[in-house]
Amino acid sequence: MKALVYKNRTFAFKDMDIPIPAHDEVLIEIINTSLNAGDYRLTQLNTGLPKSGILGNAIAGIVDVVGLDVYGFKCGDHVAVDTSNAGFGGLAEYVLAKASEVVIIPDSVSFIDASACPVASTTALQALALFKPIKHKDKVLIVGASGGVGTFAVQIAKHLGAQVTAVCSTQNEEMIKRLGADVIINYKSEDLYQVKASYDLILAINGAYPLSLYRRLLKEDGVYVMVGGPIKQFIKNMFLTPLYSLGEKKFKLLNSKSKPEDLKKILQLVSESKIKPIIEKVYPFNEAIDAFKTFEQGHSKGKIIIQIEEDPNT
Ligand SMILES: NC(=O)c1ccc[n+]([C@@H]2O[C@H](COP(=O)([O-])OP(=O)(O)OC[C@H]3O[C@@H](n4cnc5c(N)ncnc54)[C@H](OP(=O)(O)O)[C@@H]3O)[C@@H](O)[C@H]2O)c1
Repeated sequence: MKALVYKNRTFAFKDMDIPIPAHDEVLIEIINTSLNAGDYRLTQLNTGLPKSGILGNAIAGIVDVVGLDVYGFKCGDHVAVDTSNAGFGGLAEYVLAKASEVVIIPDSVSFIDASACPVASTTALQALALFKPIKHKDKVLIVGASGGVGTFAVQIAKHLGAQVTAVCSTQNEEMIKRLGADVIINYKSEDLYQVKASYDLILAINGAYPLSLYRRLLKEDGVYVMVGGPIKQFIKNMFLTPLYSLGEKKFKLLNSKSKPEDLKKILQLVSESKIKPIIEKVYPFNEAIDAFKTFEQGHSKGKIIIQIEEDPNT
């Protein structure tokens, strides 16, 4: 099989053996894989890289072989999976996945849309519910609303009945408005320090504002969740968030997990047209290195997708 392998700080396409599933695994023929910040974080840190060197953890494809003890899946099923805990492997023609992690894609959802969902949408879902569930009309501030995680967070928060204020730049204002945000703050032309409103929940998905600003923007019993942003700030906040949480306001760092039940919920919402994955561009597999370089600039609108194989439905 063809695979894009990252070794010694460089990408190269290689021919590799198609893996054989263990008793509890399925072999998936990959149709689409979406890129996630976790992919480029691993290359930047040059640690924690998958043993195979094959990145990509948000996958949609077709079950090709089923392990001996696998029930509930058969060859030909259309499936999606987050392989973050299972060695990544999405930038290749085939991947192995534990059957317990795999989710059936509803009929009305395309492989492209399905591949946008693992990791980004489930991160957004878990961030919105990390401390307590959102209540109707809760005021939610989403900083970094226009990327992969942010575009899902805006839509899921609106679906849950929140009033959403989204922070993004000029080029993304229209898109974020269409996703349903009630208020938009353009971080290029407006100063977050001048904002007078206060929020029940703040998701810091991108940007590098200090906790002191976020503390001022929270309601008395408000919750701040740091999802992403500069690595240095994430490390600093690991030490600061317990101190900031001593009062009524709570400060948390998210460490999202691969949860098939969350992915299932999201795919159901997509199939009911309640949320829609936002796709910036679909790149052919042979342009995956360019896609990766564009993505790691950190300015994509929604998701970047790789077309590994042609969709048999088109
Ligand atoms: N904690 C966890 O478990 C977890 C899980 C998944 C992801 N993450 C983290 O979440 C973050 C976002 O991931 P992603 O996949 O959404 O990344 P992404 O798609 O690369 O995010 C890019 C978007 O961020 C916006 N952005 C960049 N700087 C900004 C700023 N200063 N203020 C507001 N928006 C800004 C960009 O808009 P402009 O073009 O307008 O700048 C762009 O639309 C990453 O840091 C990632 O590591 C964490």
